[in-house]
Formats: sequence, structure tokens, C-alpha cells
Amino acid sequence: MIYFDNSATTRPHEDVLEAFLKVNRDFFGNPSSLHNFGGKAEQLITKAREQIAELAGVKPAEIIFTSGGTEGNNLAIKGAAFQYKGRGNHIISTEIEHSSVKNAIKQLEKIGFRVTWLSVNSDGIVDPEAVRNAITDETILVSIIHVNNEIGTIQPIEKISQILKNYPKIIYHVDHVQGIGKVPLDLYRAAVDLCTFSAHKFHGLKGNGFLFKRNGIRLEPLFAGGNQEQKWRSGTENTGGIVAMAKALRLAQTNLQNNVDSILQIRNFLLEELKKIDDIVVHTPAKAAPHIINFTALGLKGEVLVHALEDAGCIVSTTSACSSKEKTPSSTLLAMGASEEAALGAIRVSLSYENTMGEARQFIEALKKTLDQLNTVVRRNK
Ligand SMILES: Cc1ncc(COP(=O)(O)O)c(C=O)c1O
Repeated sequence: MIYFDNSATTRPHEDVLEAFLKVNRDFFGNPSSLHNFGGKAEQLITKAREQIAELAGVKPAEIIFTSGGTEGNNLAIKGAAFQYKGRGNHIISTEIEHSSVKNAIKQLEKIGFRVTWLSVNSDGIVDPEAVRNAITDETILVSIIHVNNEIGTIQPIEKISQILKNYPKIIYHVDHVQGIGKVPLDLYRAAVDLCTFSAHKFHGLKGNGFLFKRNGIRLEPLFAGGNQEQKWRSGTENTGGIVAMAKALRLAQTNLQNNVDSILQIRNFLLEELKKIDDIVVHTPAKAAPHIINFTALGLKGEVLVHALEDAGCIVSTTSACSSKEKTPSSTLLAMGASEEAALGAIRVSLSYENTMGEARQFIEALKKTLDQLNTVVRRNK
């Protein structure tokens, strides 16, 4: 099997699985318990927090462990909106956010918050000046995705932060779920207040993530409970998953340049080959994250091609995994001005440092064969 759906999720690294198993076998105590056995689990969490903070270039107290990207985005957005509603009720975001941001903000819209959804250009990029122009006296939160999960475009996070420096009361949240390990982001230099991470996107486990919360920023907690995670996120910690996440992040960050170089080599080869195939339109702009390629084979629905490629041994996706079953056109591509046909036919190939050039060559061969077969059927049925 050639697995090219790494933006949906990655294969957990063997060391990650081992760490998870070991912690759950030997240190299964509750980290909040009074006894020393629980204390050992607490120590493991403390160590993992320190390691993750160091790898993310921030302080340990600024890390809140969560169940993943969806929870991190909800906690950041709703937690900030509820905490700072006394300052105003206006939120700025973009038309190409992940559903966990888009739908969290839509829930806020229903209870009286006002939202400006910024449009993007044909490369899927937001103009920082549009952020400046959208700011009002009521603005309390700006939430921007760093690397788009469908097409891989990178938003100008630092340029936007230059603008927001003049508005110290506005909270700046960045969804970095697709960027980590591929597109560096210096959280302090970019003056980000809140930033979301998810372990299963960097060879960690599903159900683990963390939210960076800059020192001094406050959030209204979403979960009422036992006051874990410095009261920001109640719930017994997933000790094994947290330790495993620290391991996965170390593997992703310490080999970052090598990983990116090898992914880029594969990406450049795939792009060159895709351009040679008739009726394929590549949507990902030249300047984008190294691991995502989005294209449409004109005349074919994305889901048909996904299934046919799976039969040929290649796993890819249409849009993001959570939206792919809705069978609606990609909202990101529509926002970029793509036609409805192109947006319905979109295929996402997403790479990891585990993929090889050999797989890329096999994929192109499988794709060409699959397109020939499908196009013959389409022509016959006309
Ligand atoms: C950009 C982005 N944000 C958030 C999420 C949600 O993360 P999780 O699957 O950990 O809930 C995803 C997952 O696809 C994503 O791609």
C-alpha cells in the first residue's frame, strides 16, 4: 500500500507505540492521585511538557494538553471569546479554515458574536491588509490557519502579527496542525497568543494534542471538572499519549530539515509528472507547504478516483478527512475561485517523511493507468 493521506493522519512511529504501551503498562496511575504511583505518572507528564515546550520554543507552563486539534481550536476560540467578551464581540477569521475553527466560530455567531470571514486570492492567501481593514473597536480575536489542510497554502502569520502588534488587546490564534514538522513557526517572534497542535499529524497518536497559550492570556475553560492542566482543561490526562506525543514531536522537529528535503524531492517529482498528464489541473500554488498537492482530473468526481486509486493500492483523499464523506465541493477551492467541477473533483495527495521516491514513481504509474480505465468507462457511457 502506498499511503499518501498523511494530512488526514500519519502512521504512528514504532517508538511512539512502544512509549504508549510502556507507560500504560507500567505507569497507569492517575497523575492527580496522592500516592507515589500516581506521582510517577505526574512526573512523566511534567517531563513530556518540558520536552514539548523546548521543541516548540516556549515555556512548559504555556502548554495545555488536549485531545487534539479539534479540541485545541474550540478551547482557543470559544475560551478566548467567552473570557474577553467584555472587550467586544467581533471575531476575524478566513474562508479557508478547518471545520473545527469554522464551526466553532459559527456557534459563537449564533449567540451574538459578529464575524468577518476574510476571502483569499487565487493562490488561497489572505491579504494582511484585509485583516487591518476588518479590525474594529469591538474586535477581540483573530484566528488564522497557518498551513491549509486541503491545498497547503501558507498564510502570512508574521505579517499579520505585525499589524496586530498595534492592537495588544486582540487575541491572535493560529491553527498550526498541518504546519508542525513541515513549515516552521516561531511562536514568540510571530507574537502568537494561542496555537493549536495535534499529535496524529506528526506520527503521534489520535486523541492527543496541545494548545500553546502565551503566558498572561486567559481562557474560559470549556470543561468543568477536576481542574487539571492548571485549571484550563479538566479531565484525567492521557499519560501514555502525552509521553508518546513528546517522542513524536522530537522525531519530527529534530530531523525537520532532512524530512522537509525528502518530502520536497517527492513533491517536485509528483508535480512535474502531474503536469504532463492531460486534463489534470493542479490547484496547489508553487509556494506552499512541502507535503500537500491538490489536483483535479477534469471530468471525474474526486470520490470515484479515490476509490479507484485505492483498488490500485494507493491511498489518497478528496478534501479533509472529516469533510470527505459530505461529498460537497471543497470550500477552500471555491474560495480560491475554482469552478464547482474542479472543486468537486479535487484530490489531495499528502506526504510524510516516511514516503519514498519509489512510491512516488509507482503512484504516477497507478494514476495514469487508473485514469485510462476510468476515462474509457466515462466515454463508453456517454
Ligand atoms: C488544519 C487542521 N486543524 C485542525 C484539525 C483537527 O485535528 P484533530 O483531528 O486532531 O481533531 C485538522 C485535522 O485534519 C486540521 O487539518
